[in-house]
Amino acid sequence: MSIDLEFSKFAHTYEHYDIIQEKVALKLLSCLKYRPKRILDLGCGRGALVKKISWDIEHFLGVDFAKRMLELHPKGKRIECIYGDFDNPGLYEELLLYDFDYILSASALQWSRDIDILFAQIKRLNFQDFAFAIFTADTFKTLHKTANITSPLPSKEQILQAAQKHFHFNSYLQDYKLEFADTLEMFRYIKRSGVSGNRNILNYKQIKRLMCEYPVDFLEFEVIFLYS
Ligand SMILES: C[S@@+](CC[C@H](N)C(=O)[O-])C[C@H]1O[C@@H](n2cnc3c(N)ncnc32)[C@H](O)[C@@H]1O
Repeated sequence: MSIDLEFSKFAHTYEHYDIIQEKVALKLLSCLKYRPKRILDLGCGRGALVKKISWDIEHFLGVDFAKRMLELHPKGKRIECIYGDFDNPGLYEELLLYDFDYILSASALQWSRDIDILFAQIKRLNFQDFAFAIFTADTFKTLHKTANITSPLPSKEQILQAAQKHFHFNSYLQDYKLEFADTLEMFRYIKRSGVSGNRNILNYKQIKRLMCEYPVDFLEFEVIFLYS
């Protein structure tokens, strides 16, 4: 498994709050063996993946449980979006009606309640190949260490162990770093980027203390790419 380190200077605009997810989506597409025509995207969000697909497709099906994200996702004759929770076994009964060349997921599966059960559900579907990019527990590593809190995300070992039970795959680990002018900007990013899953893992007092004690001017992200 190779590890790449990538630095990105944080840009001071709203559009750049998803700068890391954009890089992750691009990297995920570079893992594909061919240009699939029938695609399922789990946790499709506002359509980072479909917007980057430059070839003709037959059917792109995006699934997300955030209605406001789905509203912003591109739609068309060949692009369909459905509201669904990828942790809900009922969703898979509906998805079993389709055949897919590829199942894709970028920056979403780390939020599964149980990644082992999730992979078992995905395996039941009719598909040829898959490529998943999953943030690991080492995302925001220094922040969690400084605040003495445990990451809500699964570790790379947990993800790999669960995946090995269900799939044959290649894996690739990538680290990203995002630099900030100050800690206020950094906490704004955490709140607005969606990388924290919009879960308030720190209370106001903890945030205030962290803003004084955070030892570096960057945030770390670790993403594991699993692909057939
Ligand atoms: C960080 S965004 C990534 C969106 C998009 N895939 C991208 O690459 O930019 C994570 C997405 O996963 C969705 N998500 C998280 N948990 C989910 C679940 N259990 N079922 C369906 N969607 C989920 C969120 O609503 C959000 O749109």
